[in-house]
Amino acid sequence: MDILKVRSLTKSFDSIMAVSSLDMDIEGGSITALIGPNGAGKTTTFNMITGFLKPDAGRVFFKGQDITGWPAYKVARMGLVRTFQKVEVFGGLSVLDNIKVASLGRAMQGLFRWMFKYSSYVREDKKAVETSLRALEDVGLKDSIDKPARLLTFGQLRLLEIARALATGASMMLLDEPAAGLNSVEVEDLASLMKEIRSRGVTIFLIDHDMKLVMDISDTVIVLDQGARIASGRPEQVRTEPRVIEAYLGT
Ligand SMILES: Nc1ncnc2c1ncn2[C@@H]1O[C@H](COP(=O)(O)OP(=O)(O)O)[C@@H](O)[C@H]1O
Ligand SMILES: [Mg+2]
Repeated sequence: MDILKVRSLTKSFDSIMAVSSLDMDIEGGSITALIGPNGAGKTTTFNMITGFLKPDAGRVFFKGQDITGWPAYKVARMGLVRTFQKVEVFGGLSVLDNIKVASLGRAMQGLFRWMFKYSSYVREDKKAVETSLRALEDVGLKDSIDKPARLLTFGQLRLLEIARALATGASMMLLDEPAAGLNSVEVEDLASLMKEIRSRGVTIFLIDHDMKLVMDISDTVIVLDQGARIASGRPEQVRTEPRVIEAYLGT
């Protein structure tokens, strides 16, 4: 069953056609990768799906519901959450508190809103603590729960972001370049983590440039070039398509 359907999704910025009449179907419980050269429209696509950007045209259906143009907090409440290319955390807060905010965040609207509401929401909420600890254990950060988030390594920050998404109880996660800046050991850990998340039935949709990672973990790969889908299918299919090799894989 498809958990996400995108139809004729379109967005331009001034004279740039960032995403052009894009159709996609994402199967529930799968790992799907969205790849393509820089500027292909990948992040714009994620932004439109998750309510951070209103499309010029087209529709987004999540679990059969038309969520086109919904604000991000409402999309998140439906169980569709995303991470960003640039990790945002509250550096002064502990790792655990960063996650607690997320586990309570289903009804909230973005990080700044979270900050204002933080003090009243987080006050000894036992369930939030339990959910948060479980998410941190899942991503392997349990030993760092008391550390201020700003002391985490870059790789750990990425894991914190994924834990934050997990703690919301999301059924689908969009991860924008989760492996960027990670060393090869961290990328392997990330791959195992994503497979583990998939095994729980959570759908993963990721953008990444690490071809080894993408080919290794994805059930389906979708290739974008200049805002349009030029190929999609199983990794081994996609990697041999001449258009893909030409547009992206190069050598
Ligand atoms: N907020 C914006 N304003 C103007 N142009 C943008 C904006 N966001 C993206 N673009 C342009 O849209 C195109 C697609 O960008 P993006 O979706 O970020 O690509 P990708 O994530 O595949 O690298 C690029 O040409 C980019 O410069
Ligand atoms: Mg991008």
